[in-house]
Amino acid sequence: MIQAASERKGIILAGGTGSRLYPITLGVSKQLLPVYDKPMVYYPLSVLMLARIREIAVITTAEDRGAFQRLLGDGSQWGVRFTYIVQPKPEGLAQAYVLAEDFLEGAGSAMVLGDNIFFGHGFLELLSVADARRTGATVFGYRVADPERYGVVAFDHAGKAAGIVEKPAQPPSDFAVTGLYFLDGSAPSRARDVRPSSRGELEITTLLESYLQDGLLTVEKMGRGYAWLDTGTHASLLDAGNFVRTLEERQGLQSGSPDEIAFSNHWIDSQQLAHRAAMFGKNAYGGYLDRLLEQA
Ligand code: G1P
Repeated sequence: MIQAASERKGIILAGGTGSRLYPITLGVSKQLLPVYDKPMVYYPLSVLMLARIREIAVITTAEDRGAFQRLLGDGSQWGVRFTYIVQPKPEGLAQAYVLAEDFLEGAGSAMVLGDNIFFGHGFLELLSVADARRTGATVFGYRVADPERYGVVAFDHAGKAAGIVEKPAQPPSDFAVTGLYFLDGSAPSRARDVRPSSRGELEITTLLESYLQDGLLTVEKMGRGYAWLDTGTHASLLDAGNFVRTLEERQGLQSGSPDEIAFSNHWIDSQQLAHRAAMFGKNAYGGYLDRLLEQA
């Protein structure tokens, strides 16, 4: 059965200086770096495509926009449509909603950070539950060993989200908020009310707090069966690449392939996939697409 496309629009936030990965990111955007066999941005893009989102804004810096356009094009190769938006200065994640206001046209959205990588059994169901919620916000809580590096959820005695704090010195729980946000159409107007934090950024956590105060925030926990990988340091970037390699070599299945998802969503046909496969020639990625065609 062919499922309908989501009514949401997607946002991939790929701005920022990537300063934690200097000197690598002095010359190239962080989200274009390889994670094993694919550019980093393929993984978050795949998440939006798995959520059946076809209208996607890619927010980048002015310098990197051309490189993203070279890589991703207009989206027709995957049956999606990309709109490119420039973030003049990295002034915080909540700013993305202000920049994307015209693109969203009042629609709900799913925003994913361009450096966030997710895997997990049942991920599709988790996405469709979040997508189905027409009002309010849904975010995902993931247990980490170093919550102080992230936005962290505080839970009340009943286990309900009671607050979200950005990079707390004393984390109220071990649950970080991942970089995947399903927000309703009120996000741009809420984002306009966000004031800069002490570090001078329009924090996503402040925007989420506004939903929380209105009783409109749902935090879904991602359980033990999920991997939410970090790409923020040289070591964790390498670890993420090794993780993908281990998984792919063991199973003979790709993760984070927009080509495969487009094909299985019926957004492109065999001919279009064959065209893509031919582009990659004899490499492993091209061979994988060829096998998909044979099996179809
Ligand atoms: C950002 C958010 C933080 C979130 C994290 C997820 O932090 O501010 O709330 O937990 O992304 O990747 P950053 O990575 O920009 O420091």
